[in-house]
Amino acid sequence: MDHAAQQSGVQASPVEVRLGGGVGPSFVLRPPSPRVPPRILRHPGLSCAGARFHSHEWLGVVRRHKRLPHQSVILERIQLFHGSLPVRRTTRIAWRFLIERTKNMPTYAIWNNKGGVGKSYLSFQVAAEYARVHPERRVLVIDLCPQANSSSMLLGGMLDGEAVLNQIHYANPRLTISGYVEDRIFSPYVNPRSGARYATSVSAYNNAIPRNLFLVVGDEQLEIQSSRVSAATSPGPQDAWRIVHTWISDLIQDISESWNNETFTVFIDCNPSFSIYTELALSASDRLIIPFSADGSSKRAVRAVLALIFGVTRQPGQQQSEYFINSQRFRMSLPELYMYVGNRLTQANQTSAAAFKSVVNEIGDEIFAVWQTNSNLFCVHPGGAPIPTGKRAFKAMFQYEVNDANTASVVSSTCGIPISGLTSGAKIVLGKTVIVNQTQLDKQVPNIQALALAIE
Ligand SMILES: Nc1ncnc2c1ncn2[C@@H]1O[C@H](COP(=O)(O)OP(=O)(O)OP(=O)(O)O)[C@@H](O)[C@H]1O
Ligand SMILES: [Mg+2]
Repeated sequence: MDHAAQQSGVQASPVEVRLGGGVGPSFVLRPPSPRVPPRILRHPGLSCAGARFHSHEWLGVVRRHKRLPHQSVILERIQLFHGSLPVRRTTRIAWRFLIERTKNMPTYAIWNNKGGVGKSYLSFQVAAEYARVHPERRVLVIDLCPQANSSSMLLGGMLDGEAVLNQIHYANPRLTISGYVEDRIFSPYVNPRSGARYATSVSAYNNAIPRNLFLVVGDEQLEIQSSRVSAATSPGPQDAWRIVHTWISDLIQDISESWNNETFTVFIDCNPSFSIYTELALSASDRLIIPFSADGSSKRAVRAVLALIFGVTRQPGQQQSEYFINSQRFRMSLPELYMYVGNRLTQANQTSAAAFKSVVNEIGDEIFAVWQTNSNLFCVHPGGAPIPTGKRAFKAMFQYEVNDANTASVVSSTCGIPISGLTSGAKIVLGKTVIVNQTQLDKQVPNIQALALAIE
């Protein structure tokens, strides 16, 4: 068993089948032992397959009976592999197996349909912390929000970061997400393979950020481009919608190739609205992190997320989003729910702390109900972890909380210093002296560390 397999705790078995390989995504079929029926284990097409593990990291185990990730790709590869088997037979086999998708660039979208819940703040904090604890691995943040808030924080905060953003926005060529999108508007259906030039090294501008963190800089132009992006989804080739929805995956793939296909982790900060560029972000993502604030409308916002992406509706016959319908039609993979994060929980006093906690728990109950009927929408993690059987185990795996760190959060985001690297004491912020207390840091730093640790 190789290193990656050892790390995941997955045991090699003689019936594992590797599909694809070399560069880019590949897939591993593995029987969900011990439940796999013996006659499938003895299937000659599978048992003769080479059982070598892939050196890329394992990305967890996904049980899928209806919607396979990149289903058409998997089936095509199965057919190549088992050339003689009839299609329907191979399809049935795929259905019965756990599909493990191993990919060298796990991609996390941070999205909620509601504004101001902390998407950008958490993108900044979690990406920086993740890069700090994984110095051997590159981390890429793609800022797909025209407000460019996470870019501003990463590049140095309200003064320095904004100045750098201006400099990058006015440079020619415009090395931002909009520069890339412009390339794609000119060549919507043929990948110009220009993505690699859009990854900016953040530590070149902000020395509080680890050297392994890179950014595709956000840009307000994205808003102006959005109608042209939408226009490219139709008319055009029959699968124009699908091709346009792979633009961000192409960008990640271009960057991956320029980094010699090394493993790296991607975080995408999304815009609150379900705009075309949010759709592109979701189509490029394997996993979804949903931050929410603990207020009255959060429950509705989380429901909206589940309906828009996964078609989870509360009443039968309710209209589905075009994104959901087209993703099904073109058999495109959807991100899996990885975690939901109650953010900015205040501990100001016991009453407010209890009220916040009850909102988080209610949302947890709602998402747990989705798990009970649609567990295939979720990403059980870490890879090899047992599937949660009750509500408590479910929440332990999927529910996270981040406290409000008051002044410490403001200093962190305004100065572009990740909170886990911030020290207590007097700080000059926009010309004023403010005090960061250790107690404030202690409230949030462990939460951010726990989030970064839970991300594979
Ligand atoms: N855990 C936290 N503690 C303290 N402040 C926070 C926390 N999370 C977010 N904030 C602050 O709350 C505000 C809103 O956060 P942020 O901009 O990240 O939200 P958003 O979801 O990205 O918003 P938008 O939908 O507009 O993109 C910011 O001022 C941010 O610094
Ligand atoms: Mg934001």
